[in-house]
Amino acid sequence: MTLTDSQRQSLSRLPALLLSWYGRAGRVLPWRSDPAPYRVWISEIMLQQTRVEAALPYFERFLSALPDVRALAVVPEDELMKLWEGLGYYSRARNLQKAAKLIVSEHGGRIPASYEALLSLPGIGEYTAGAVASIAFGIPVPAVDGNVLRVLSRVLSSDEDVTLPKTKPAFASLLGGVLPPDRPGDFNQALMDVGATVCLPNGAPRCLECPAREICLGFQDGSAPVLPVKSPKKPRRVEEKTVFVLVSPAGLALRRRPEKGLLAGLWELPHSDGALSEPEAAAVLAGWGIPAPRLVPLPAAKHIFTHVEWRMAGFRADCDPVPLPEGWAWASREARAAGYAVPNAFSAYLPEK
Ligand code: ADE
Repeated sequence: MTLTDSQRQSLSRLPALLLSWYGRAGRVLPWRSDPAPYRVWISEIMLQQTRVEAALPYFERFLSALPDVRALAVVPEDELMKLWEGLGYYSRARNLQKAAKLIVSEHGGRIPASYEALLSLPGIGEYTAGAVASIAFGIPVPAVDGNVLRVLSRVLSSDEDVTLPKTKPAFASLLGGVLPPDRPGDFNQALMDVGATVCLPNGAPRCLECPAREICLGFQDGSAPVLPVKSPKKPRRVEEKTVFVLVSPAGLALRRRPEKGLLAGLWELPHSDGALSEPEAAAVLAGWGIPAPRLVPLPAAKHIFTHVEWRMAGFRADCDPVPLPEGWAWASREARAAGYAVPNAFSAYLPEK
């Protein structure tokens, strides 16, 4: 990507402006006050798909339960899923454990202090390798996520399509050229903070509060609110589901999802594909061997995953604690709290947590 003179000038002044702002206005976050590599790694994985405010309580709880790489490497999977319950994108947690095992077997239990070695671990892509390398180890490498793409598009008033695969490496290389060698982690985090708190998405940048206003070409030419350029996404596939809330004196009926695919291995409310009528729902229950004298319809709910949207309706039934199919369980409230991780997709139908 070739830059105009004014773009090059703006870019070269960006680090000083951001670093001085970061010192004054950067967010106080637990992995910043103590940027031990394990803490930075866990935080970056949580923050891949989760906002800082939502991740904070999970971060503290996770660190207390699993204070180091070795503890993470050996924790039973159900316990790990329970710690991750509610954060979503559960493969992140599974990859954390796979990586922890590799760090123990290949790196003596120490998180490797190299961008390439980090990049080779499960669940660590270029962004996360850059973030961990720069924040935890002071290695001067960029970390470009969606927020950073937006900030840089605006600062440069760039109409490069940020959804194209070539744009991220091009922006990373531009940032690599101006990264302050003594504070790469602070610079990367300052960019993230500006993106998260000032240079907001969806046409709502708070330019008057921005430390980069004086060099921002998108502010100067008025294009900031409409940047970055993104080509439209493919629409999500819509799936209809009928969810069963089956309650017996032994607890709530849960079943384990398959070991592969969406929400692999987590526990879920039993459900069927399609929007079933009451007689159809009764027939499904009979097929599972669960007699239910009365079905009470429950309101519609939806849940959005990355590529699929579930549109759900439900039925509640009070049941006898009959034997359930293989892989199912009656889970009491205490048992659920202790050992059954149920994804948020079902939260509209879960009886009080
Ligand atoms: N988002 C991802 N990583 C972050 C970090 N280290 N600080 C703030 N926001 C982030």
